Amino acid sequence: MAVTKPRREAREQQSAEVSEAQIAVHWQEEGYYSPPKKFVAQANLTDKGILKRFSLDRFPRYFEEFAALLDWYKKWDKTLDTSKPPFWRWFVGGRINACTNCVDRHLAKHRNKTAIHFVPEPESEAIQHVTYQELFVRVNEFAALLRDFCGLKAGDRATLHMPMVAELPITMLACARLGVIHSQVFSGFSGKACGDRVSDSESRVLITMDAYYRAGKLLDHKEKADIAVADAAKDGHKLDKVLVWQRHPGRYSSPTKLAEGRDFTVNDLLAKYRGKRVEPVRLPAEAPLFLMYTSGTTGRPKGCQHSIGGYLAYVTWTSKNIQDIHPEDVYWCMADIGWITGHSYIVYGPLALAASSVVFEGVPTHPDAGRPWRIAEELGVNIFHTSPTAIRALRKEGPDEPSKYNHRFKHMTTVGEPIEPAVWKWYHKVVGKGEAVIVDTWWQTENGGFLCSTVPAIHKMKPGSAGPGIPGIHPVIYDDDGKELRAGSGKAGNICIRNPWPGSFQTIWKDPNRFVQQYYARYCKNPKSKDWRDWPYMAGDGAVQAKDGYYRILGRIDDVINVAGHRLGTKEIESAALVVPEVVEAAVVPVADPIKGKVPDLYVSLKTGLKASEEIAKKISAAVVSEIGAIARPRQVIIVPDMPKTRSGKIMRRVLAAISNHQDPGDVSTLANPEVVDKIKELAR
Ligand code: WT7
Repeated sequence: MAVTKPRREAREQQSAEVSEAQIAVHWQEEGYYSPPKKFVAQANLTDKGILKRFSLDRFPRYFEEFAALLDWYKKWDKTLDTSKPPFWRWFVGGRINACTNCVDRHLAKHRNKTAIHFVPEPESEAIQHVTYQELFVRVNEFAALLRDFCGLKAGDRATLHMPMVAELPITMLACARLGVIHSQVFSGFSGKACGDRVSDSESRVLITMDAYYRAGKLLDHKEKADIAVADAAKDGHKLDKVLVWQRHPGRYSSPTKLAEGRDFTVNDLLAKYRGKRVEPVRLPAEAPLFLMYTSGTTGRPKGCQHSIGGYLAYVTWTSKNIQDIHPEDVYWCMADIGWITGHSYIVYGPLALAASSVVFEGVPTHPDAGRPWRIAEELGVNIFHTSPTAIRALRKEGPDEPSKYNHRFKHMTTVGEPIEPAVWKWYHKVVGKGEAVIVDTWWQTENGGFLCSTVPAIHKMKPGSAGPGIPGIHPVIYDDDGKELRAGSGKAGNICIRNPWPGSFQTIWKDPNRFVQQYYARYCKNPKSKDWRDWPYMAGDGAVQAKDGYYRILGRIDDVINVAGHRLGTKEIESAALVVPEVVEAAVVPVADPIKGKVPDLYVSLKTGLKASEEIAKKISAAVVSEIGAIARPRQVIIVPDMPKTRSGKIMRRVLAAISNHQDPGDVSTLANPEVVDKIKELAR
């Protein structure tokens, strides 16, 4: 399987590294499912002509249809500027505001329609239905607070570390109204991880919440803000203010104290801004809307910078045509807004289309696996969007639960990881009651929105396959030598996109070099060229293309593990383990897991003379959780006498991955220390 390294080093790297794609399950080809007639009859996009109209010879013009879905203060002069490859600029000269597109413009027709259904985790607590009018009022008041109390203005950054509550989209939209670049950090991430992102983005303000509910407990969240402030300070970065929303307005729900002069309760401050309206800032299309940090091949997470105009155009068009959102739909994406899926397909896309979007605070299987179907029934959700991990967990814990409820979905999405055909079929038959169309959407944090998916009313579905590129996206698979692998070749390679698209991130925050190196250098045909055709985008996933043109994504080819649909860098986990003074070496490998897709196994070796103990293993595991968050907790910490190594001293992760996955590690005789392999086998589960 291909790796992202230059050819010369390829052989040794290939033997030392292991990728998810290498351990991917090779499923059989499945049969097709047709979209239900009832769905097709009402769908937004049924014109097959689109596939021709969006062919490469009409690039980039066809993307004007995306931008035409938005309200612009000033229309763009140039659809695509390619003068500085690969820093493509979309809709240049246009002026726009993302907040007015998601809120203000709907007031005339949909003022009293629910914009956000906030579903608290405790079932005893009433669901809140925030109308577009109320959203408008709350966003304006909070924007006034950000501007007048915090002094934030266009181009400044604000870090958000908020749970799944209505106040999160309100905060994002208030930032967008002012042109403040928001950087929302997943609430499950640790205070330390939040602090790293605060200092990298140089945010002067951190916006958080005192507490939130998860699996039946009211968690103290404010304590993480204190850790974040201290961690940013270690990097030499000082935060001016911490704004704390209250989970229960009027009642502070955290045992952690507020720091005088630094921490402020939003709900108290807001009293001063009642009735305030903030003129939306007319921003250039290419001004950044937000940063979203994601894991890569080095320990440091990278801040993917997304634009206002291109991004919003892309998520709006794909929400309309791939999610099939109409203004009368009740749409529920069960992802967390702390990930890109939530930004694009809970907040910006659905709200730009005046849909009602559900924000659910809790765990889908709590208190039981019937909860999602109760919510869907109660709210009349007709479009449902989730990940294979959630589907697997719901299927395991409540295989018959969906049939007990009267929800009816017209459309369902799976995203984030490959889905096993058996799981897909349960989703289709039991959750969708055989009536819903399904899209398997493949994309990444970097991409802003879907790259591959069937068009729900046009293409047939095929379990386990993401489908072709969406209209306007032209994927290609390259082998290690840059040769194109044709559809039906049966060979896996690196999936790339031939053409730029408006939803793509613009750069990595403060690291344009890494942006070029990581995504474009590998298959660039001519670094001097200003022709976009010479700059395919490399996604970092292994894939195969079937004869029918559908892509099957196999998994990451780099040092990234996709745990429960969330990306974690193996290097990040390894450096967290190395924080523990006893540890001298650490190696993380992906292990196949029946629910989460992949989970990390952490191998460590200790300083000479130290004895392995359960206590040290626990300490290492705890360090990973406090450095990154519970999501990175290793399945097991295996303390080994020595790492298996090549003669040049590289850790053979491939051997460790084989052991963890109960596979044959193959020929290990060329290792510098082959005898260690059997010893490790005895230690690992
Ligand atoms: C990685 C991106 C897409 C938003 C959520 C995750 C994997 C994503 C699929 C899919 C197979 C998928 C890829 C990708 N992935 N969607 N439908 N089938 N694999 O965003 O955290 O940036 O992760 O998720 O490996 O590179 P992310």
